[in-house]
Amino acid sequence: MASHMTRRTALGSAVALGFAASSLGLTGKADAQAKTDMPAKANAQPPTVFTLPPLPYAFDALQPHIDAKTMELHHGKHHQAFINNLNTAAAEYPGLLNKPIQDILKDLASLPEAVRMLARNNLGGHANHSMYWQIMGKPGTKPDSEISAIIERDFGGLEKLQTAFNTAAAKVFGSGWAFVTVSSDGKLAIEARPNQDSPLMDGKRVLFGNDVWEHAYYLNYQNRRPDYLKSWWNVLNWDKVSERYKQAKAGTLVI
Ligand SMILES: [Fe+2]
Repeated sequence: MASHMTRRTALGSAVALGFAASSLGLTGKADAQAKTDMPAKANAQPPTVFTLPPLPYAFDALQPHIDAKTMELHHGKHHQAFINNLNTAAAEYPGLLNKPIQDILKDLASLPEAVRMLARNNLGGHANHSMYWQIMGKPGTKPDSEISAIIERDFGGLEKLQTAFNTAAAKVFGSGWAFVTVSSDGKLAIEARPNQDSPLMDGKRVLFGNDVWEHAYYLNYQNRRPDYLKSWWNVLNWDKVSERYKQAKAGTLVI
């Protein structure tokens, strides 16, 4: 069973990740009640309210590699749909989703069957996309010396990492993701997952990942997924990757 973290702990972790607390959907009605010191009803938990994390750059910031329309739809429609589904579920099953995302995802089996697949798809989608927006940004960043050395150690260099990562991402049948995971001692590995699954579901941590659902690239690249994969490296925000790597080693990386 996942240990139940207090709301205070959960928010602390969210802030450590670099997200505004609201970006992880852990604010809203429940927090508003806490701030006003209103007594909660006995044996009643307010539903968790999930919110869409704001995109940390403009829709057109990743052009020409990812077009503005794709970003607008991807963030505002696709990610928002996960949020809407989660809020419906949170209201229907009060208390079940009122835990840190990473704790729920690593222990999906403990959820009632009625909500298990819903949480797997929508909470997985929320976590994956929240990570995805954060690790992209204005083109032009480079791996710093620490990350370069780690990539050299674990993959034999950046080009080899990119080739292996793109190969794994190209092989995803249908919809899914490719990730670089980071262990608590800083070792990197490549994993591909179907649908909205995430290494978080095995208690692992994600350094960065790429969305290979068609909605992530189809307007610009159509069936040319390999072209999207190749171009995507131009918008990977290596400064954010470095930040996440340090957080992973410190044990403060949340999702
Ligand atoms: Fe997506």
